[in-house]
Amino acid sequence: MAAAGSAVGLGNIWGFPTQAASNGGAAFLLIYLLLAFTLAYPALMAELIIGRHAHANAVNALRLISPGRLMQRIGVGTGLVGLVVASFILSFYSIIAGWMLAYTLASIAELAGLDALVAWLRDFSLGRNLLFMLIFLALTVGIISEGVKEGIERWSSRLMPMLLISLVLLVIYVLTLDGAMAGLRVYLLPDFERALEPGLIINALGSAFFSLSLGVGTMLIYGSYISDRENLPLVGGLVTLVDICIAVTAGFLVLPAMYVALHNGVEIFTASGALISEDTLIFTVLPALFDSMGIAGIVVSLVFFFLMSIAALTSSISMLEVPVAYTIEQHNVGRKPAVVVIGLIIAAVSALILLNFDSLFGLVVTATTRYSQPLLGFMFCIFAGWVWHRDNLLQELRRGYPEVEQGWFWKIWPWYVRVVCPVIILAIFAQSLT
Ligand code: PFF
Repeated sequence: MAAAGSAVGLGNIWGFPTQAASNGGAAFLLIYLLLAFTLAYPALMAELIIGRHAHANAVNALRLISPGRLMQRIGVGTGLVGLVVASFILSFYSIIAGWMLAYTLASIAELAGLDALVAWLRDFSLGRNLLFMLIFLALTVGIISEGVKEGIERWSSRLMPMLLISLVLLVIYVLTLDGAMAGLRVYLLPDFERALEPGLIINALGSAFFSLSLGVGTMLIYGSYISDRENLPLVGGLVTLVDICIAVTAGFLVLPAMYVALHNGVEIFTASGALISEDTLIFTVLPALFDSMGIAGIVVSLVFFFLMSIAALTSSISMLEVPVAYTIEQHNVGRKPAVVVIGLIIAAVSALILLNFDSLFGLVVTATTRYSQPLLGFMFCIFAGWVWHRDNLLQELRRGYPEVEQGWFWKIWPWYVRVVCPVIILAIFAQSLT
């Protein structure tokens, strides 16, 4: 549940639908689904298995499973880069999550008839952005400093069904509106030529790795919390399914909602057909959708943005846990001071991004999610497939799944993660550079 809580977040409702909208809709959906099952799931398994075996943070875990000095150093380096990337992801994530919080409060203010406050909360201003980024980070820091396991599981197990149900209800509503069918067509009828564009494929790869929280050591840490009685391939499979299901459902909401808004005169595309503002797209089209529901829309909007804020929180705590776990285990520092200092550093980076939003925000998102996460995922596949001894791998999987050797997972995954995953990830990168 905690791993699913980490996976399900802004990546599903903000990241995936926005990427799909700006990368040809159905073509992106097709490639995303393909890559999520064939590359992201195997990479997730690599992290979960190494994590449960090592019972440590990524830096120590990769060191532990490496035989020689050189590989140990590379393992430590990979873990450390993952830690830095996780922190940078959190620095932009808390900005978007802050917007979710602001929109939740805006719905409450609207119910109370405080129009000026509603306008301030919905307006893109430096003051609002800074304040809500800080509030969101403070919430994350607060939860992490208390230690997390029980809290996350309780929240996640309630959140996921509620999120899915409200998404499905919203999808049903949006599909009854004028203009929605145009969006549905864009989302479901692929243009196969676009599906092969290198830019689209690398975006879909980054999206899948971001959505499943891969490459940065989060899933490795969560793997280290999983009990030996659990069947790991099944746990990983369920996390992947829940995550993809919520992302795809969110696409059924956001793309039709875009075209409904367009039909109602909201400007979404530039003259050349590109999206006007990708980053804030859902904060334009979803409120427009909620407004069309009258008074009920205010309550729906409140529920939706509240659920999204919680979903973002169960993801952000998994990010912050990466540098925190390392600092505590490695440097013998108490949990509270470690959390506060790291939280402050991340807040400073977020503030810097906000002060230079146009030049830094997109850059940090692209550098971390599109490039770093898949490349780090590649390293985890190399460690699970080549560096770690196969007998240890089998032994680890046998706990909780004694008949693993007879199943399809053991027949396919070990050579697949050894050869197919690294080769395809590299091929996608090579193609995108040409
Ligand atoms: N998977 C999260 C989402 O879809 O919102 C984002 C994420 C969480 C990325 C944790 C990386 C991470 F370590």
